[in-house]
Amino acid sequence: MSDIKSIGVIGAGQMGRGIAQVAIQAGFGVILYDIAEESITKGADFIKNQLNKGVEKSKWSDADAKNALKKLTVSTKLSDLSQVDLVIEAATENKKIKFELFKKLDEVVKKEALLVSNTSSISITEIAAQTKRPEKVAGMHFMNPVPVMKLVEGIKGLETSAETFTAIEEASKKMGKVFVAVKDMPGFAVNRILMPMINEAVYVLHEGIASVKDIDAAMTLGTNQPMGPLTLADFIGLDTCLAIMEVLFDGLGDTKYRPCPLLKQYVAAGRLGRKNGKGFYEY
Ligand code: CAA
Repeated sequence: MSDIKSIGVIGAGQMGRGIAQVAIQAGFGVILYDIAEESITKGADFIKNQLNKGVEKSKWSDADAKNALKKLTVSTKLSDLSQVDLVIEAATENKKIKFELFKKLDEVVKKEALLVSNTSSISITEIAAQTKRPEKVAGMHFMNPVPVMKLVEGIKGLETSAETFTAIEEASKKMGKVFVAVKDMPGFAVNRILMPMINEAVYVLHEGIASVKDIDAAMTLGTNQPMGPLTLADFIGLDTCLAIMEVLFDGLGDTKYRPCPLLKQYVAAGRLGRKNGKGFYEY
């Protein structure tokens, strides 16, 4: 059994706040950190609202929601994370930002603590190499929205120890998630499979083989997927889909991962999907 009791979550955006919510509901003490005061306030309010909505829908009791909230503290000082047992980083998906963060975390967080990243595409081995404790670094890739999606993709970097990996598996299970073990290779498993499918759907559109609606209808009604690949692309964000395709293309060097020119064009035009109201569909 691992003895993780407290967790520091870096980043109060969509992913960080979801991770903080499931962690406090699982009984972990959580410090939610962000550089921006405004993001922290927004993140904490969002969590409070989600917990209250759950009470209204009888998903959990009022007492459960109140107890969970008691487990949450917020901070804009990284040094406040010095005594946590596990840090889950969910900052902006940018190599430079993550590398800097892990260097700093390695300095300020107690040396026994585990440092994990929620990255969907950056190499865990490279992130670990920014620290003096690569054996204590791993990936916990949560899916969006975190409270709804059951999966945590556990990423084992080249130097990740078996103890670290077992500890993050236990923490994931305690948060009610199903944990799958994946080696650190570009796109890990979920995005290695999902993104080429989405990219191929964009090629089918690009080549005029079928319309947006028909591509999605074909895949929902013909293969029992809950939502079509283009709807899902809009949900994830077309910029994110493109960035992950580029990681696959660069990292694996195979032309089968070539991002579709139409995907590039949509991103260049600022059609990013649901988040800004226009992608393959309009919202
Ligand atoms: N936080 C918490 N709960 C949420 C939520 C959020 N952000 N959004 C929706 N929910 C909950 C709702 O409360 C509702 O719960 P109940 O059924 O218990 O009442 C439930 O989800 C369904 O919500 P709605 O009916 O309002 O909305 P919907 O029908 O549009 O479903 C969804 C919402 C389940 C999130 C759906 O949009 C969906 O399945 N989206 C795709 C999710 C997905 O595939 N994620 C993985 C993307 S890949 C990825 O994340 C990897 C990567 O690296 C890119």
